[in-house]
Amino acid sequence: MGNNTKLNKSHIQFVKDFKVELEVLSPGRINFIGEHTDYNNGFVLPTAIDKKITFSFERNKTDTLCNIYSISFDNMLTFDINEIKRSSVEWENYILGVIDELCKITNKIKGFNCIIKSELPIGAGVSSSAALECGLAFGLNELFGLELSRMALVELSQRAEHNYVGTKCGIMDQFASVMSEDQKVILLDCKSQHYRLIAAQFEPYKILLLNTNVSHNLASSEYNTRRAECEEIIKVISSKYINVKSLRDVTKSMLNEFKTKLSDILFQRGLFIIEENDRVLQASESLEKGDLKHFGALMYQSHRGLQHQYEVSCKELDFLVDFSENYDQIIGSRMMGGGFGGCTINLIHKDDIDHFLETVKKAYKDQFNIELTSFITVPSKGTSIQ
Ligand code: GLA
Repeated sequence: MGNNTKLNKSHIQFVKDFKVELEVLSPGRINFIGEHTDYNNGFVLPTAIDKKITFSFERNKTDTLCNIYSISFDNMLTFDINEIKRSSVEWENYILGVIDELCKITNKIKGFNCIIKSELPIGAGVSSSAALECGLAFGLNELFGLELSRMALVELSQRAEHNYVGTKCGIMDQFASVMSEDQKVILLDCKSQHYRLIAAQFEPYKILLLNTNVSHNLASSEYNTRRAECEEIIKVISSKYINVKSLRDVTKSMLNEFKTKLSDILFQRGLFIIEENDRVLQASESLEKGDLKHFGALMYQSHRGLQHQYEVSCKELDFLVDFSENYDQIIGSRMMGGGFGGCTINLIHKDDIDHFLETVKKAYKDQFNIELTSFITVPSKGTSIQ
């Protein structure tokens, strides 16, 4: 959410009169490796970060009237719980979608007010949208004593995104935002939803995010296209292997068997997912063994696959990864999230951050005439009460 310093007068009054009953922190996420694998029932390696959205809640004594004020947008969303419909304002759909999903399973939600303040960059691939959905769901669960489990909140937030926003996202972002623990990364099996927490020991390296500050509008349509392509592959392969339900069930030799029946594009998409799943497992093992060099090498491989096989990168992201690869003190770098813009995630030696940033910012500006922004982040806990 962008910064807006000139606040509307009635909004200032709303904030002044607000009596906070509950404050919830909802973090963004990073993903070390395992991109576009979640909706293919594969493996991912994400965690929450120390940047977050803060939600303040109060009940307002009405039965159904809700007021949600975004400080960052200086925008008030007012709606009646009984008359929820899709909005033309994008961020509002994340909110309305969650309310809609909650109302399908409970009638305990009454009128409430909420103030939202975000420090997450939008369109940067750190999943400000999942943070928004999950923080709201988590807060309302507490405020109205709904007794939903964390996992139920994760799943309903994902459904909100499918049904209201229209992105057929996987489970990774919501899962990482809600389930993460401090100083840990999550090895999540998106098929069984079993997960393992791994100590995030990256010393002497730091996690550096470089934000391209571009967000090509292909992102949402191409995302759904990739999903459809993966389903297409499954259709072909399951004509013989009837137990194959997702790319998780497909081996390299099965894919090769169908090479002539698949277009080259589909073949490459499938190959990428199979190889990426394998990289996630290798990366988790490397992290546990403290082999950060191998971990980093897998990140570079993942990027090349996303660039050439899955084709969800863009020239700005490729430029940054190429730049990092030529810099010895960066042991791993790749695009992160859905693609077509947003951030690269880099593992950089802590002594070289300043020098690298100076060089890369200048080079990026010279190349694209866009300011590169950056931040260092640390693996942090998931959604919590303040
Ligand atoms: C977006 C989606 C996730 C995941 C990533 C790509 O962030 O929300 O579910 O598919 O893209 O890995």
